[in-house]
Amino acid sequence: MQSRTTRIAVWDKLIRLFHWSLLAAVVISFYTTKTTGEPFLFPIEVHAQSGYIIIGLLVFRFIWGLVGTTYARFSTFLYGPKATASYAKALITRRAPHYASHNPLGGWMVLLLLVSLSFQAVSGLFLSDDIFFQAPLYGLLGGEVSDVLARLHSLNSDLLLILIGLHLAGLIWHTLLGERLVPAMLTGVKQFSGAPVDGQPAVQRGHRRYAVGALLVAAGVSGWLWFY
Ligand code: HEM
Ligand code: HEM
Repeated sequence: MQSRTTRIAVWDKLIRLFHWSLLAAVVISFYTTKTTGEPFLFPIEVHAQSGYIIIGLLVFRFIWGLVGTTYARFSTFLYGPKATASYAKALITRRAPHYASHNPLGGWMVLLLLVSLSFQAVSGLFLSDDIFFQAPLYGLLGGEVSDVLARLHSLNSDLLLILIGLHLAGLIWHTLLGERLVPAMLTGVKQFSGAPVDGQPAVQRGHRRYAVGALLVAAGVSGWLWFY
């Protein structure tokens, strides 16, 4: 018997733009602190600016997680501990069901990434490089808090690298299992043999007004930080 192939448009344009812009900005953030930062004249300025862009992207993503398209919503891809544990078990025995949005483990991984990125970028706003750069909120909470945040900024940056490593390892694992997740993040469309467990009759439309609102708020926050 032939298995039926289902194609679902899971990732809308804004999620895809969000993802690849985030990747570029995070790479710049690490590049400007882990290397000499050439060819940038003031790498720390570029570091901060990529951080402001990341904050805007995250603001957009949190709003879109609440009011965005079906598969982008947190309510679609965050599952309780029971469902997550049984998915993990099924994954080990290679009997895991397919999901249109993030699978239960992937969903928590995404949330962890978003929270860690948020902490990283927001803690950066209180820092100085002790030479000539002072972030917009430097000094607001006093020198001692700034010192603690500087240590946490450094520690959390290592955690972020681990999370990104796990993210990539997860993608390689799913690719080996025959799931084409990366092309889906490029084209928006996922292909399934059979129906995914979280498949919805139709992706909700009519989000244009929410999208414009989310983009305006995100651009406003980024712009304010950039020109502060
Ligand atoms: C997600 C975004 C960010 C990432 C991934 C990131 C990453 C890093 C890393 C890896 C370091 C080096 C830590 C160490 O010395 O061990 C660092 C230092 C620093 N970051 Fe960030 N950062 C981000 C956002 C920001 C933002 C938004 C600002 C300020 C507006 C900022 C300001 C600083 C400063 C002032 C330092 C200290 C540099 C020095 O001591 O020379 N960071 N950051
Ligand atoms: C700095 C590095 C990266 C970060 C911070 C990052 C972050 C994220 C985040 C936050 C999501 C969730 C998307 C959403 O629902 O909003 C995601 C999903 C995804 N990312 Fe990345 N990513 C990184 C690198 C990459 C790379 C290098 C690739 C592939 C070449 C990739 C491919 C994907 C794919 C395919 C998904 C969707 C996974 C699924 O279908 O469940 N990511 N990433």
